[in-house]
Amino acid sequence: MAARSISLRLASVCRAAVRPQTATSTTPLLVRPAATALLPTSSTRSSHALAVHRDSPDNHANIPFKFSAENEKLITEILKRYPPQYKKAAVMPILDLGQRQHGFTSLSVMNEVARILEMPPMRVYEVASFYTMYNRNPVGKFHLQVCTTTPCQLCNSDSIMKAIQDHLGIKPGHTTKDGIFTFSEVECLGACVNAPMVQINDDFYEDLTPETTVKLLDALKAYATGSSGGQLPINTTVITGDVPTEVKGIPKPGPLSGRATCENSKGLTSLTSPMWGPEVTRKDL
Ligand code: FES
Repeated sequence: MAARSISLRLASVCRAAVRPQTATSTTPLLVRPAATALLPTSSTRSSHALAVHRDSPDNHANIPFKFSAENEKLITEILKRYPPQYKKAAVMPILDLGQRQHGFTSLSVMNEVARILEMPPMRVYEVASFYTMYNRNPVGKFHLQVCTTTPCQLCNSDSIMKAIQDHLGIKPGHTTKDGIFTFSEVECLGACVNAPMVQINDDFYEDLTPETTVKLLDALKAYATGSSGGQLPINTTVITGDVPTEVKGIPKPGPLSGRATCENSKGLTSLTSPMWGPEVTRKDL
């Protein structure tokens, strides 16, 4: 049983580390652990956040970080999948594991990963600063990543950005004062057929309108504060799959328009004639 649970978690970590995510992701929503300090309240450009590290009280090299015993077992499993001389290839899933444990990919997390994989720390920093899935600053419990690339923009992602901005009173790059939401603007997340969309922690919410977005934010807030009846403490790492989503009022991840996946919302408009029968195919096939 323990081995099965390790292999399930391992699969989830590896998937998260390498995927582009799919439009129909149903991965349970992961509530991030509370960060000791959140994104700065002053305006920052995300391009700066990608390239620059500045020591801060909650992010400097002298803060100790060790993987938990459970995660050490996962790391052992991950490393078994690579030839020993190429174990640095495991840098992405192990960084992801560190981020999930610590809440963000701090300098200490990166240094510990470098130590485990016997890599120069700079090589780990290069990976962590290249991929935007690694949050190198603390984020709130729910990280709202709104895509504004062309297909989403053509489907009015501007209205989603505005709805979040107006409802939460924060701009992209900022975290709400209660630490519940961090708001980011991101490039294409691969769910263009269900545009506009937002990634929230591990889940995609798609076919958004300003109204459904606001409802979703309210449900998440009620869930995080325990006022939804879910009774979930704010500082806990929780998988929403453990509790029926109706209890918390949080919509299931996926399209919020009623579409099941990415089928034509107007119904079938082509290939409507009866299928060819087998008699039209070549007899010798
Ligand atoms: S353009 Fe938004 S998901 Fe691709």
